Amino acid sequence: MLIQKTTTPKAKPVDESALTFGKVFTDHMLMINYTEGKGWHDERIVPYQNLDMDPACMVLHYGQAIFEGMKAYKTADGRVQMFRPQDNINRMNKSGERLCIPALPVDKVVDCIKQLVEVEKDWIPTAPNTSLYIRPTIIATDVALGVHASKTYLFYVILSPVGPYYKEGLNPVKIFVEDEYVRAVRGGTGFTKCAGNYAASLIGSERAAKFGYSQVLWLDGVERKYVEEVGAMNMFFVIDNVLVTPPLEGSILGGITRDSVIKYARHKGLEVQERKIAIDEVMDAARSGHLNEAFGSGTAAVISPVGMLRMDDEEVVINNNEIGPIAQMLYDEITGIQYGRLSDPFGWVVEVK
Ligand code: PLP
Ligand code: COI
Repeated sequence: MLIQKTTTPKAKPVDESALTFGKVFTDHMLMINYTEGKGWHDERIVPYQNLDMDPACMVLHYGQAIFEGMKAYKTADGRVQMFRPQDNINRMNKSGERLCIPALPVDKVVDCIKQLVEVEKDWIPTAPNTSLYIRPTIIATDVALGVHASKTYLFYVILSPVGPYYKEGLNPVKIFVEDEYVRAVRGGTGFTKCAGNYAASLIGSERAAKFGYSQVLWLDGVERKYVEEVGAMNMFFVIDNVLVTPPLEGSILGGITRDSVIKYARHKGLEVQERKIAIDEVMDAARSGHLNEAFGSGTAAVISPVGMLRMDDEEVVINNNEIGPIAQMLYDEITGIQYGRLSDPFGWVVEVK
């Protein structure tokens, strides 16, 4: 692969403990082009740069854009590792299939990303709870106004040293149950990481923010009755010590952290149910003291306890607005594997180099 190094490296963050999410970018990026008839070609690592685009570029009009989110971690003894990167690229291919974007060669792309992380390894922060966020993206690049699938695409990967996604860190977040707008329906694009899903979610987040809430809990798009997911996380509830999470039926994202939580919890002997869960069941369980904990899971958000839920005009406090023992255990164990503090019984970690 062509690797073109920058001649003007940027200064790295001085105070890593002050890092937030996605504001600082590293010196290099990975790019791979797609052309119909030729496939994915010209993989290269180049200095971080602006994209040169025609205003008629198809992604700008019809939104054929998908992305991923994963992380690289530096272990205490200086090794660099990624968490389940093949799963991210496989998921990107599932998103791509729904949006008529051609599939990436998974092993080759993971290898290119590893090389990018290797080039940028000095950018991986080591302060507690920091990591290098990896953002693969695909955009349609044909210059045309007809509505059809593009015949050319750009895949690129940028890297960002990050701290916690929420300003609360591991402290509980407040979640607003959205009853007016919906995020996705079965048969739509809810299970993909397409840019449009996030654009459609912003109005809910803005309304929630006005009430002082960090995120929106989306309900199903048909009956507005069942819990789906939060803006950037899958949801888990602990009801009478059973871990319950909505099933993957096409309208929510199949989170890689969600899958890790389910597998780890079962490995620890906890009962996990993937089933439809009505918001009324959650609110009733909260009122009657049966809702032991609630938390979200995501790459950016890791495990994020939910301390308060608001639905209509009612607010319920969960576990005294403190992180519960199951969320704490899952956080400790999963981050333990990610940062190389604990052994990895599932083979999730991929070493770079
Ligand atoms: N749900 C949505 C809508 C997301 O954007 C994310 C983040 O990627 C998740 C769930 C969690 O998925 P993962 O654990 O793979 O990061
Ligand atoms: C992630 O967790 O990687 C996400 O993509 C969530 C969000 C920043 C969109």
